Amino acid sequence: QTTALVAGAIGKDGYRHYMEKELHEHPLVIGQTLQRLVDPASRTVVLPDMPFDLASVPRAVITACGSAFYAGMIGRYWLEDIARLPVDIDVASEMRYRNPPLTSGSLGVLVSQSGETADTLAALRSLREKAVHILSILNVEQSTMARESAVVLGTVAGPEISVASTKAFTAQLTVLACLTIATARARGTLDTAGEEALVAALLDLPSRAADVFTSGDAIRRMARVVAEARDVLYLGRGSMFPVAMEGALKLKEISYIHAEAYAAGEMKHGPISLIDRTVPIVASAPYTPLFDKTLSNLQEAKARGGRLLVFTDTKGADRVSAIAEDMVVLPHVHDFVAPILQTIPVQMLAYEVAVLKGTDVDQPRNLAKSVTVE
Ligand code: AGP
Repeated sequence: QTTALVAGAIGKDGYRHYMEKELHEHPLVIGQTLQRLVDPASRTVVLPDMPFDLASVPRAVITACGSAFYAGMIGRYWLEDIARLPVDIDVASEMRYRNPPLTSGSLGVLVSQSGETADTLAALRSLREKAVHILSILNVEQSTMARESAVVLGTVAGPEISVASTKAFTAQLTVLACLTIATARARGTLDTAGEEALVAALLDLPSRAADVFTSGDAIRRMARVVAEARDVLYLGRGSMFPVAMEGALKLKEISYIHAEAYAAGEMKHGPISLIDRTVPIVASAPYTPLFDKTLSNLQEAKARGGRLLVFTDTKGADRVSAIAEDMVVLPHVHDFVAPILQTIPVQMLAYEVAVLKGTDVDQPRNLAKSVTVE
């Protein structure tokens, strides 16, 4: 199937843009990446041999750029919560100049689709000078970062042609999820039953991801509202906050509409003054432990005239429908994999808005697929 991914990269296979084709490859690449990292017989995560022991890593630092950074943000929630590992995180263009006090033997996790991003490569080198173990999550395994990493965990996403990263993002999350499980097991914070539950949720994900494409009409309906806006707010809590960041970035980079993402709890500390009927609010709000809190933030926004466009799931749909102008309902999945699933429709929304705006979806203005210069 990997061959199919590579061969398929040559043409658009009948899709309008490479981005649309790559959006539809989410289920395939999640499954491909899991095949590489999960032993089907024992249904346990099996990472490649590493020149260090995950059990003895005192802390981790995650660094990347753009969408890859948002994937790292989700990885941080997981590593902290499930592996109980202290994690620092920063965009690579800052991390490369920071001087964090790191004990040797710490783990540096770098995330990059291309493996050539100048800032991420520079951050890799600055961390390596601190005797940090370098583990890179890469889609291009014959890349500069691959050659300079102690460990490479590959995302099996095949060539990603569209400048806007889509399938590589969920593949990065899949790798980070498996890294979390392996780290938690090594650190003794996840028992066999716990690992089985998380792995089962991951193995079910390709099917649930395929289900998302039945919401195409609802997403296109939302896109008609967003396409008319000058400013859009994206909201999420917990591991949905980086999903909101990713959704806002995708909208900005391919439709050129200004968008900002906030941790939903931050609204009352200023941004809520932005809200009126001209500002759509896109929220990622599946039924997780933070659902009630997110909903109350949305009610506050609605009370101020905000137009709520909400991505939720079958367990949250009834309460969301009572306040949202429009919503997309995804299958309810384990909290652990919810951010992976919720990523797909926010990327699809950006795509449909860009199509309505008539922009060059695959080659947006001013952007390059890999930022190899500073
Ligand atoms: C994502 O849609 C953007 N194209 C951009 O933010 C990208 O994620 C970033 O430049 C990092 O690229 P990399 O993953 O190749 O390092």
